[in-house]
Amino acid sequence: MGVAIIEVAGVSKRVRDSVGELTILHEISFQLAPRESVAIVGASGSGKSTLLSILAGLDTPSDGTVRLDGIDLFALDEDARAAVRGERIGFVFQSFQLMGHLSALENVMLPLELRGERNARALATEMLGRVGLGQRLGHYPKLLSGGEQQRVALARAFVVRPALLLADEPTGSLDHATGESVMQLMFELNREIGTTLVLVTHDPRIAERCDRQIRLEAGRMV
Ligand SMILES: Nc1ncnc2c1ncn2[C@@H]1O[C@H](COP(=O)(O)OP(=O)(O)O)[C@@H](O)[C@H]1O
Ligand SMILES: [Mg+2]
Repeated sequence: MGVAIIEVAGVSKRVRDSVGELTILHEISFQLAPRESVAIVGASGSGKSTLLSILAGLDTPSDGTVRLDGIDLFALDEDARAAVRGERIGFVFQSFQLMGHLSALENVMLPLELRGERNARALATEMLGRVGLGQRLGHYPKLLSGGEQQRVALARAFVVRPALLLADEPTGSLDHATGESVMQLMFELNREIGTTLVLVTHDPRIAERCDRQIRLEAGRMV
C-alpha cells in the first residue's frame, strides 16, 4: 500500500468500572489508502462506535496509535487534535445531530464558518443543491423528514471536503428505501470528493459496497 490516510496500530481500549476492567477493543490494526472505503461490521456491543470515536480522536485508546495523514493523533493535545479533526474529518451519525435552532443552510455553513471560509453561504447552498435540497435551504430540521435531515448531515460533512468521513449507522433510523437513497448519495459524494470512508453498518448489502470489511467480535478483529 502507498501512503495511508489512516493508520491504526495496536489500538486497545479498556475501561474500569466497580467490578473490574473490561476490554472493549483488543489490538486493532489496519490501514486505509486515500479514497478507500471500509465497512465496520459486527453485533451490537462489539466495539464499532468506540473504534469510530477513537479514529475521530474523540475517545482515547488505552494502547496503540492512530495516525491521520501521518499525524499521530494522540501525541497531540486536545486543542491540536480538535483542529486536525475540524480540518480533515467529517461525521455522519444515525441520529443526524443537526442543530435544531439553525436552518438547513446554516447547519451546512457552520463547519465552513468555523474554518473562516468567506464563501460559506455560496458553498453551502451549492452543496445543499447537490444533495437535492436546493428548495429547503431555510427549513429547520424539525420540518424535514428523516431522509432529508440525513441529506443535510451529508452536505454538512462533505462541504469541507474532508480527507476522512466517519459514518456510524447512517441509515439506522431510516426506512429501507430512504436509507438506500441516502447510501447511494454518500457513495457518490465519497467518490466525487475523494474521501476515505469508514462506515459502521448492520446491513450486509451496504457493507458489500465498500472496498473492504472489518468484522468485530467482542472487540477483536476477526
Ligand atoms: N465508557 C464506557 N464505559 C464502559 N463500557 C463501555 C463504555 N463505552 C462502551 N462501553 C461498552 O463497550 C462495548 C462496545 O460498545 P460500542 O462501541 O458502543 O459497541 P457497538 O457500537 O458495536 O454497538 C459495549 O459492551 C458497551 O457497553
Ligand atoms: Mg454503535
